[in-house]
Amino acid sequence: MKPKLGILGAGKLGIVLAQRAVAAGYPVTIASSKPAQSIKLTVSVLAPGATAADSGDVIQQSDVIILALPLSKFRNLDPSLFKNKLVIDAMNYWWEVDGPRDTLIPAHMSSSEAVQAYFKKARVVKALSHMGYHELHDMARPFLKTDRKAIAIAGDNQHNTSEVATIVDDFGFDPLFIGKLAQGKVLEPGQPGFGTALSKNALQHRLENKTQS
Ligand SMILES: NC(=O)c1ccc[n+]([C@@H]2O[C@H](COP(=O)([O-])OP(=O)(O)OC[C@H]3O[C@@H](n4cnc5c(N)ncnc54)[C@H](OP(=O)(O)O)[C@@H]3O)[C@@H](O)[C@H]2O)c1
Repeated sequence: MKPKLGILGAGKLGIVLAQRAVAAGYPVTIASSKPAQSIKLTVSVLAPGATAADSGDVIQQSDVIILALPLSKFRNLDPSLFKNKLVIDAMNYWWEVDGPRDTLIPAHMSSSEAVQAYFKKARVVKALSHMGYHELHDMARPFLKTDRKAIAIAGDNQHNTSEVATIVDDFGFDPLFIGKLAQGKVLEPGQPGFGTALSKNALQHRLENKTQS
């Protein structure tokens, strides 16, 4: 049976991921910062099959939670609700939205390390962050294993990254493990992995070459 998937953030990314999740047969709930009622119609039109819910309910009812909200907002969430949850951090630091980076993320950390430090008891994996929502929409190949694009995955625990790899595969992309959460930095805006929609080989090559230089 598929795990229950919850998405926090019902904007461009969250809605496309809800579509992918429904298409792959996952039970999926999705929340914005507002009560469920405010996104119910949008979700029913854009991601039929997904259920709009309040964020607290999404967190409590889900096995896997995708963070698809602005990076500057994750500390509005109550970390105690995330105990033992598998959390996919799809967020990026974006200065126009989030303000100065150093007010959010310590300079020596990748953004996902800071997310893990906040959600201490959750199992954080970085994924689904480096490709644009339109590419996640247009380039998914859930039923074909050929001509696929790759999604990079970074995490400190192999069991957790494998669970996320299954989701990435179900969504129609090839999973590419790139190392621990600290290595996730290469996927952040301004870094070689950001904005990429490449095959697995091409993405691996790009990350290896750029990270070595
Ligand atoms: N757009 C992309 O192509 C893309 C691709 C990969 C990664 N990302 C990353 O994904 C995140 C979202 O980007 P986006 O483009 O989807 O932004 P967006 O369209 O502005 O949507 C942001 C969503 O987050 C919700 N939100 C804010 N605070 C929340 C909270 N405390 N709890 C639950 N939901 C909350 C907002 O709800 P309200 O409207 O109620 O405030 C809104 O639904 C960002 O970190 C971005 O860097 C985006």
